[in-house]
Parts: sequence; structure tokens; C-alpha cells
Amino acid sequence: MTDLFSKFDPLIQQRETLLATGVTDPYNLVMEKVISPTVAICNGRETILLGTYNYMGMTFDPDVIAAGKDALDKFGAGTTGSRVLNGTYQGHKECEEALKEFYAMEHAMVFSTGYQANLGIISTIAGKGDYVILDIDSHASIYDGCAMGNAEIVAFRHNDVEALEKRLKRLPPEAGKLVVLEGVYSMLGDVAPLKEMIRVSKEAGAMVLVDEAHSMGFIGENGRGVAEAQGVIDDVDFIIGTFSKSVGTVGGFCVSNHPKFEILRLVCRPYVFTASLPPSVVATAATSIRKLIHGSNKRAHLWENSKVLHKGLRDLGFTLGTVEAQSAIIAVIMPDLEKGAMMWEALLDEGLYVNLARPPATPANMTLLRCSLCAEHSIEQVGEILGRFERAGKRIGIIG
Ligand SMILES: Cc1ncc(COP(=O)(O)O)c(C=O)c1O
Repeated sequence: MTDLFSKFDPLIQQRETLLATGVTDPYNLVMEKVISPTVAICNGRETILLGTYNYMGMTFDPDVIAAGKDALDKFGAGTTGSRVLNGTYQGHKECEEALKEFYAMEHAMVFSTGYQANLGIISTIAGKGDYVILDIDSHASIYDGCAMGNAEIVAFRHNDVEALEKRLKRLPPEAGKLVVLEGVYSMLGDVAPLKEMIRVSKEAGAMVLVDEAHSMGFIGENGRGVAEAQGVIDDVDFIIGTFSKSVGTVGGFCVSNHPKFEILRLVCRPYVFTASLPPSVVATAATSIRKLIHGSNKRAHLWENSKVLHKGLRDLGFTLGTVEAQSAIIAVIMPDLEKGAMMWEALLDEGLYVNLARPPATPANMTLLRCSLCAEHSIEQVGEILGRFERAGKRIGIIG
């Protein structure tokens, strides 16, 4: 018998080697108690959270929590069914209405996760004989959506408009084409040049899908994302997003103005063949989305936090993923996985949680300490975070 697990041996070996150094397992941390969007108890210690996607701090918003409790009481714990059968409740429709209002778009479709939204939309609309043209650093859910569909896949160099244009020009003019982009790329926190990319895509007759998972709620005047900030939202055919970041709960969605969009509810397998979100979740999502419409003060504060942290880390001598803060994600580049894990642990000892990101999730084999800020971090907390980075960085020898 061939052990089907033997393919994981190199990863098992790498993990064992790392843990043999005595470092805490960075992928096994338990949040024993969550006190607020920015503070939790980890290993019995009060810890500042700097590695969540809770950009707008909505997880503890009192209106959001009240809406969830009310829906739990009135509609029960779950729907036990697919959106197309018994799984569409009033709350799912309200959530879709809130999304249509938030994006000022005609159609909204709520999925059980953002992962499934990408999986479903990409695999369903790009079929045999069509082409999906995607940035090489695209999120796993985009790649998996491509793998699930039958279209030809063409990747281009990260954020390179010329490379995209070249690829598009090589494709048969009459073929169906879907260009898939992200507003903010989650590993380095860099923003896509959507304006130019959408221009070349449209010139080549392609439809455009933008995943705004890490920009929704924060970037753009109304928090609609990078496409809004760059003035091209009307040229985007499909926006994909998630409730697991700024919205503060779980779920995914696609919004669009395409006149035939509603047919997707019958043909999109990751929408049809899975249970719908629980009533409490869609109630929290709808309430949160409606509040995010009026989140301009929080957006301004989150920008301030991001800029202060970026400058502070750069001044301390850390190497960062972007020259300036482009989003609420600030990536600190580590020399290697071992040093990255040591620094991650040193920060945890200081009472600071960040994400340790490593290949294959990261571009160019980088090990990153990804910091993501929250609109609920006070400016004093950001100062405290910098102090903890300085102490840990000197202890581990990342900075002098
Ligand atoms: C760019 C991007 N798209 C989609 C997703 C999936 O979102 P969800 O957590 O709702 O499945 C993520 C999650 O990390 C993401 O970063």
C-alpha cells in the first residue's frame, strides 16, 4: 500500500525541525478569552491583537451583537438548508439589500464564505473555451475557483499592467475573458493599479472581477474598496467580498450590475450545494454593513493608525512589504522561517499577536510578520505596539 500521506513528509519534517528549536507553534495559538476587537487573553496573558482582519472593529459593536441575539431567538440556530431550498430567510434577503445599498449595485448574492464566493463565481462564469487571466499572487480561493472550472488559466506578474496587457493581446479576440484582480493583496498589503488594469482589460473585451476582501469598509470614500478609491467601480463587472474581515462575522458575497446576474443562483454549485448562513450571522452582517456605510470617522482613524505604525516600524529599522502604508496590512519581512518564528514568539511574550505567514501563502518565498490594524486600536496602543516590536526585534537580532 502506498501511504497517501507520504506527500506531506517534507512539510512534516520542516515543522518538526522548527518545533525542535523549542519555539512555540505559531499555528496552534488559542485565544482563551476575547475582551475586545483589539485585546485577548492568550497563554494566560493580556495580548494586543495585531493579526486579525477585524479592520473596522465590528465584532463587538453593540448593535451588531443585539441583532445577532435577536435573530437567534426569533429564527433559531441554523437554517439546515441550501439557499435555493429552505435556506433563504428574511435575514438573507436583508443582507443582500444591505450589500446593494452599500455598493449602490443592482444585484447581491450572499455565499457561506468569501472562499466559496470566489470558488462559485469564477468556476461558473468562466467555462470551457473561456480564459481567466489572473495576478500570479492571487488568493488561494481564486486559484481554487480556476481549478474547479473548465476555463484556460493565464497568470501575469504581480500588479504588472504591461504583463496583463501582453497576455490579453495574445488571446483569441472572440474568446470569453475574465480578468481577476484583488484590491489589496493580503500578504504584503499592497494595492493594485486597478484603474490601468481595468482600462487594458476593457480594451481587450474582458469582463473584470475584483476581490475587495481586504479593502471593503475601509478604502474608498464610502468604504467600497480600491475600485471606488481609484474611480473605476462602475467599470467592474463583479465585486467579491467577505463578511470575515471588516464586517466582523462570517460569509461571502458577490455584487454586480450584470442584467443576467440572478441566474447564478441556479447554476453556481458552491451556492446551491451547501447550507446557508445561520440567521444570527446574516443579521449581524446586515447590521454591520449598514453601519459601515456611515464609518467615515473610523476609516480616517484606521488610516492614521496604519500610517503611524508603518512609519514607526520603518524608523526602527524593520524591512517592510511596501514603501508606505497602502492599506491596513503592514508586512514585516523576516530573514527566514526560523527567525520569523522566533520573532513571532518574542512578540507574543511581549503581549502582541501578529500573523506569521510563510510560503506557499507568501510571494517570493518570503516569511512575513503580518500586522493588520483595527479602527479600534487607540493611538496609544499603536505606540505600545511599536515599543514591543523594538524590544523583541533587538532581542532576536532583527534590528540593531
Ligand atoms: C483576498 C481574499 N479573498 C477571499 C478570502 C476568503 O474569505 P473568507 O474568509 O470569507 O472565506 C480571503 C480570506 O482570507 C482573502 O484574503
